[in-house]
Amino acid sequence: MKDPFQQFGEWYREAEAAIPVDSNAMVLSTVGADGRPSSRVVLLKGFDAAGFLFYGNLGSRKFRELATHPVAALNFHWKPLERQVRIEGGVTPVTNAEADAYFATRERGSQLGAWASKQSEVLGSRAELEERMRAVEAKYAGREVPRPPFWSGYRLAPDRIEFWKSGAFRLHDREVFRRDSPEAPWTVELLYP
Ligand SMILES: Cc1cc2nc3c(=O)[nH]c(=O)nc-3n(C[C@H](O)[C@H](O)[C@H](O)COP(=O)(O)O)c2cc1C
Repeated sequence: MKDPFQQFGEWYREAEAAIPVDSNAMVLSTVGADGRPSSRVVLLKGFDAAGFLFYGNLGSRKFRELATHPVAALNFHWKPLERQVRIEGGVTPVTNAEADAYFATRERGSQLGAWASKQSEVLGSRAELEERMRAVEAKYAGREVPRPPFWSGYRLAPDRIEFWKSGAFRLHDREVFRRDSPEAPWTVELLYP
């Protein structure tokens, strides 16, 4: 039986080789309390058999939606490879230790930016943001930037992963792996294109 994580890993490495910038970019879709979906691009920051990781400001729209409605969908489109991967499942917050470890690898500018930005809140002017950035730079001058308590990530544990590969005459290949829960075994089926 094929393992979808192994399959994802193969496609991911091929995407990294074929796409010079942001091959880890994916569309993250969430659902609001009122049932309204919303999508935005985020970067995949790790994956293994436990799931797919992404990070940002916990006060942002996406993470507020995940806090109240903890399911999400991810979509990768690797145009040069004519491939798409669709992933769905429940999400859980990463641990503080995981978030600290990842935050520590970020460039200093991005670390400071995380403190300066109230992601998804209304901003009065660009000058206001720049002023907040200057204040944060001054505050942390000459020392390490700690992870803001409002900045962390989520792990999506998939229960559905579809691998889509373009075919001639729109007769694409679609292979979908499904399982009832993250502990259950996978079943695999083909879908009409
Ligand atoms: C290539 C690319 C990568 C991005 N990566 C992230 C990311 O990893 N985390 C993040 O919070 N926002 C990222 N963004 C910004 C998001 O698309 C989005 O603007 C932001 O998360 C706010 O969305 P929200 O208001 O729905 O929460 C990225 C945008 C682009 C175009």
